[in-house]
Amino acid sequence: MQTLDSEFKPGLEGVIAAETRLSRVDGQLGELIIAGYPLETLAPNATFEEVVYLLWNSRRPNKDELDAFKAELAQLRDLPEATLTLLEAIAIQQKPAMDALRMVAGTLDLDQPNLSPRDGAKLTLARLPTAVAAYHRLVTGKAPVQPIPDLSHAANYLYMLTGIRPTPAQTKGMETYLNTVVDHGLNASTFAARVIIATQSDMLSAVVGAIGALKGPLHGGAPGPALDMVFEIGSAERAEPYLRDKIEQGERLMGFGHRVYKVRDPRADVLGVAAESMFESMAADSPEGYELYTLALAVEEKAIELLEEYKPGRKLQTNVEFYTALLLHGLGLPTDLFSPTFAISRAAGWMAHCFEQLETKRLIRPKARFVGDIHSSWD
Ligand code: ACO
Repeated sequence: MQTLDSEFKPGLEGVIAAETRLSRVDGQLGELIIAGYPLETLAPNATFEEVVYLLWNSRRPNKDELDAFKAELAQLRDLPEATLTLLEAIAIQQKPAMDALRMVAGTLDLDQPNLSPRDGAKLTLARLPTAVAAYHRLVTGKAPVQPIPDLSHAANYLYMLTGIRPTPAQTKGMETYLNTVVDHGLNASTFAARVIIATQSDMLSAVVGAIGALKGPLHGGAPGPALDMVFEIGSAERAEPYLRDKIEQGERLMGFGHRVYKVRDPRADVLGVAAESMFESMAADSPEGYELYTLALAVEEKAIELLEEYKPGRKLQTNVEFYTALLLHGLGLPTDLFSPTFAISRAAGWMAHCFEQLETKRLIRPKARFVGDIHSSWD
């Protein structure tokens, strides 16, 4: 009993529950390696399809392999009719996009039963953006836009949202984002996916469970509130009283702090650079966009200063969600689409972890410490 008690780790903090080749997260140094490549080299330079191929095959594709993989994904993009009908029904209820994604994700293989894990992974990856974009169109009173096979995964997603082919700068921004958040050690949603696939369930079930885990504001649901906070603050001089008030009320500042990173989240830096170049390129056409960007930088600086004042030694720094919010906003996405867009990328990481987990052939089954009462009889 004593041994079991001393092993209890609330939140499983520090517990190593899997071995992975997919990403190495160094929370003390602020380093992230994705499938052998430092994030800073991979995210702004690779295509999303290259990164997925690398994660799923433990090596980079040659040109023929990459072309074949892209073509295969592109021809799987169309949704089953019933999925579209369901999306229409959800749009009438005006549900948040993340709820819509959770509801329809389980229907994506309706027209393709009994898929192998690998085929299930390709189908799921190809169709998630179509489902998110179709829902966004429907909920805003527009007809869904059919995918275009000659566009990349990132470009096609933007195209299906707007009906307009994105510029190379916009595609680059989206691609950098997708690459940056594709995998991140044994985070909550990835762990959920591994637990599900370890029972030898199917790939889509693992993804549906992971979507549920990602939805919470302590995980993937933070960027919307992070941007709302910047909007609410409205001007740099209001940042300090607003943030002080929040912290004093015991609220958490969305976009700051991380369970693993005790220095700045390296993903925040990569997305910060991408956001900077995007807002600068748009400054002439959209001065208000650039103003929001500079306001966000001022809010970030003040938030870090105040978190150190109120929570000394906790090392609460900017996390990935803060710059996700800025970058996706700059790409024209409404806050409701931030978490589903995160899911579109992270699904590739979830499924890479599922392949690894399947190799181990090991059920994940921790124990709970019983702290309830025991009664000797029912009377
Ligand atoms: N704002 C204010 N205070 C904070 C914040 C924050 N963002 N984050 C942590 N703290 C405080 C806690 O209240 C706690 O204070 P206390 O010791 O006085 O009680 C202390 O700092 C330590 O916090 P923990 O709860 O131990 O930190 P934990 O590792 O559990 O939390 C988490 C990590 C959940 C991300 C937290 O920092 C948080 O809630 N951040 C805001 C939400 C957010 O941005 N989530 C996205 C994370 S990135 C991702 O998942 C992709």
